[in-house]
Amino acid sequence: MRNLIDIRDLSTTEIDELIAVANDIIANPGKYSEVCRGKKLATLFFEPSTRTRLSFEAAMYELGGNVLSVAGGNSSSAAKGESVADTAKTVSCYADIIAMRHPKEGAPLVASMNASIPVINAGDGGHNHPTQTLADLLTISREKGRLGNLTVGFCGDLKFGRTVHSLIAALSRYTGIKIVLISPTELRVPDYIKAEVMEKNAIPYEETTDLLSAMPELDILYMTRVQRERFFNEEDYLRLKDSYILTPDKLIGAKEDLSILHPLPRVNEIAVAIDNDPRACYFKQVFNGKIMRMALIMKLLEVTV
Ligand code: NCD
Repeated sequence: MRNLIDIRDLSTTEIDELIAVANDIIANPGKYSEVCRGKKLATLFFEPSTRTRLSFEAAMYELGGNVLSVAGGNSSSAAKGESVADTAKTVSCYADIIAMRHPKEGAPLVASMNASIPVINAGDGGHNHPTQTLADLLTISREKGRLGNLTVGFCGDLKFGRTVHSLIAALSRYTGIKIVLISPTELRVPDYIKAEVMEKNAIPYEETTDLLSAMPELDILYMTRVQRERFFNEEDYLRLKDSYILTPDKLIGAKEDLSILHPLPRVNEIAVAIDNDPRACYFKQVFNGKIMRMALIMKLLEVTV
């Protein structure tokens, strides 16, 4: 039985296969509309979510399956003090697969060690978010036609941004990747990602606070929200929240074929005026997230067309 807790639980060959399935789903959606008939996905979300939970649920419905949902930890037995392990054992009696989001780093891993059904990490604290990475990889692959030979800029809250951590881990396995980390010094990528991911894989990277000087070399610009809920005090958040606001004038030095990604939700870090720029890909990412979750659910449930 397979789980998806860290994006590296999937080999690059498996990621390529998921992308191939996703492209086929986009081309032939009718082929997949019954493959999960009789199967149930449980979504257990103990943190706010719009896209991730709804896209998992939409994905399962589009595969012909059903959904059981706990949204908001306060309405579940977690509020009574139940452990993640007991919740996972319980839900294993009702469903065929679990997608879990939790504020504590490692909670989905604990769930996977106790569940008798596959568990998908839908975001654990400031740690990882592997299914957002699947959405990001499909988007990059469709926009650029490749996942290697790219200079990728990450901008914003690189410390707490779990989508950044997972995407760096995924991209570090491809050749010709260069990473530019653009953030305030307080919100730099954690040292363990530099040491255990980029340096270990000999990925060239640079750190800067200056988005404009980095812009001309970027093929991908991955913008992120400052993660207010992970800050220890409000003053730090208020001081750092407007560090980077992408407006049309800042794109003057950018490549014509730059792709601008953002996992969403956006607060103000990308001006709405950018939305109609052909380089804006963030709403395509939303669509691609549902498709990749369809491909992933099929893989983990071992269903075929
Ligand atoms: C992200 C998350 O939850 O980490 N959102 C998402 O799932 N698309 C990014 C964020 O909240 O800023």
